[in-house]
Amino acid sequence: MALINEHYQKLAAGYLFPEIGRRVREYEKAHPGSGIIRMGIGDVTQPLAPSVIRAFHAGVEEMASAETFKGYGPEQGYDFLREAIAERSFRSRGAAITADDIFISDGSKCDTGNIQEIFGLQSKVAICDPVYPVYADTTVMAGKTGHAAANGYYQGIIYLPCTAENHFIPALPEEVPDLIFLCYPNNPTGTVAPREELKKWVDYALEHKSIILFDAAYEAFIRDPEIPHSIYEIAGAEKVAIEFRSLSKTAGFTGTRLAYTVIPGALMAYDSQGNEVQVRKLWNRRHTTKFNGVSYPVQKAAAAVFTEEGQREVEATIGYYMENAALIRESLAACGYTVYGGENAPYIWVQTRDGMKSWDFFDLLLEKAHVVGTPGSGFGPSGEGYFRFSAFATREKVLEAMDRIYHL
Ligand code: MLT
Repeated sequence: MALINEHYQKLAAGYLFPEIGRRVREYEKAHPGSGIIRMGIGDVTQPLAPSVIRAFHAGVEEMASAETFKGYGPEQGYDFLREAIAERSFRSRGAAITADDIFISDGSKCDTGNIQEIFGLQSKVAICDPVYPVYADTTVMAGKTGHAAANGYYQGIIYLPCTAENHFIPALPEEVPDLIFLCYPNNPTGTVAPREELKKWVDYALEHKSIILFDAAYEAFIRDPEIPHSIYEIAGAEKVAIEFRSLSKTAGFTGTRLAYTVIPGALMAYDSQGNEVQVRKLWNRRHTTKFNGVSYPVQKAAAAVFTEEGQREVEATIGYYMENAALIRESLAACGYTVYGGENAPYIWVQTRDGMKSWDFFDLLLEKAHVVGTPGSGFGPSGEGYFRFSAFATREKVLEAMDRIYHL
């Protein structure tokens, strides 16, 4: 008899974004032609940059001739890409990351979930609340939690509430976690962590031998030059942090798929006897066993992102999205909403009015303005009463959506 992994039965609801998609499809079916504008899931709308497309085509051409054809590549990614990333994303910012520390993959969603596998089942996991749902759901799937309590919190997870009162920056937990998920610029609140804030976490992790799982998928959206882009800009972070990066939002790769996970050689975890074990070695074992690498043309396309020309081009697109973010912020504020984020991140976190519940606001916007966003409570209990707008729609759609909300 095949038994299921019963931890899946603890999951309180379906995964957030398909659930929103289902509700929107149902609404569209009942109200065809309603002209729905989607500002829910953070999916990009602008095409790949010209230099990226050229490199992509060139990679495909190479696959067409026997002399340049590529079969299996290195599971960790081609050196040309790992070197370009180490130089452009890290060494140029004073972070001593090498190509060996970088693992190319097809997405940070998978990596932030899969990383749990190399850590002990008894590991205590800390996550922010609200949070990108993948961290919580994969912690449940991995069997590291009990059931969800009435307040929506899973037993066994250490929750770090992020509220307007603490400026959406969590306090250090009293109970010491083994693994700490942090995401900056933050999804969903759009806030950023200043240098001293990151230092606080790095020092805490050093003191307690914890590991920080740092999701930096939105670092390219940081406009403020004082804000670190990588946790490795903080001294000592190479001993306590894994960083997740993605080209999905940075360079429009949501449909193309390419991300990378950084595990410095100096990062150690421990076996039950207290012996040090190199985490990079463990992840390399996992990665080479369960993954066969991202396709060659996609890695060629990704490498173009890290050239001077590619950087200029993707920066222009990011600028476009950030202008959208400013428009959304200003329009909603003009409607009387309290807004957060959207200055160094593509997400705008809005407080609903008169204590309206997040899903009620979702229904109101869908039914009256035909605009889709993401209910804050879908990201965790502390998100109740908030709503997230994504700035990745086209300018035309953003303007139209804001106009409709203004006239609600
Ligand atoms: C989001 O909208 O939070 C993201 O697009 C989801 C993701 O990156 O998987």
